[in-house]
Amino acid sequence: MLLELKHLYIKLNDKKILDDFSLTIQPGEVHVIMGPNGTGKSTLSKVIMNHPAYHLEQGDIVWNGKSILSMSTDERAKLGIFLAMQDPLTIEGVSNSEFLRTALSEKEGKTVGIFEFLQEMNQAIQDLKMSDDMLHRSINQGFSGGERKKNEILQMKLLKPQLILLDEIDSGLDVDSLKIVCENINQYLNENPQASLLIITHYPRILDYIKPDYVHIMKDGKIQKTGDLSLAYEIEKTGYHGINDVSELASHE
Ligand SMILES: Nc1ncnc2c1ncn2[C@@H]1O[C@H](COP(=O)(O)OP(=O)(O)O)[C@@H](O)[C@H]1O
Ligand SMILES: [Mg+2]
Repeated sequence: MLLELKHLYIKLNDKKILDDFSLTIQPGEVHVIMGPNGTGKSTLSKVIMNHPAYHLEQGDIVWNGKSILSMSTDERAKLGIFLAMQDPLTIEGVSNSEFLRTALSEKEGKTVGIFEFLQEMNQAIQDLKMSDDMLHRSINQGFSGGERKKNEILQMKLLKPQLILLDEIDSGLDVDSLKIVCENINQYLNENPQASLLIITHYPRILDYIKPDYVHIMKDGKIQKTGDLSLAYEIEKTGYHGINDVSELASHE
């Protein structure tokens, strides 16, 4: 088992956001979590990365059989967990290339050679059809919504994670950019068959390009239903309101 999320509970402003949330991901699997706005999908991704504003009340996060609850965000990133955030941060005064070379050196535990690094970064920029000046610009400063999303995938390509979490990577991307981004993700998965992917979305458009093994519907703080791709298209037709809390259903029986 690569990642086990076990009975996670989190409250924000006294509101239960994750309420006994569990999910298991094996190496090489592609999972999708769909759910209405405000269900806690982004919260889940931040909890996995140990974002300082999101403290678990209960539950455990297990990576390759070991609890990582006490690990910092940096330590989790070094394990090979990568989060492409729904709203990527802008960092003034730090260039994309500087940031990435540092992050990569940290992850590999040695300084990555500048020429080797630049070659790889240039290749990734070409693959993503980004403009060359992205190398030298401050992280995400003045980037369009689509450029920010591509920049997240650029980081993914260089950092070579074992688990990729994509939080609404499809929002803000036009049709052509979404296609390019998905081609890059698929290529990465083909080249790294042990890598796993968790796509978080409220819209099944991305699933035209990336084929999931499992589709989960999240509502009221947990996964209510799991199926295959057909479940995602069913939701597109019927909406989320037909999905009921499984524990409530059980209690009515
Ligand atoms: N830092 C925070 N402080 C307080 N409430 C928050 C915070 N982050 C998210 N929330 C609330 O938690 C709920 C879930 O948010 P989020 O995880 O972003 O949902 P989703 O990504 O599914 O749309 C929302 O009601 C949101 O307002
Ligand atoms: Mg969100």
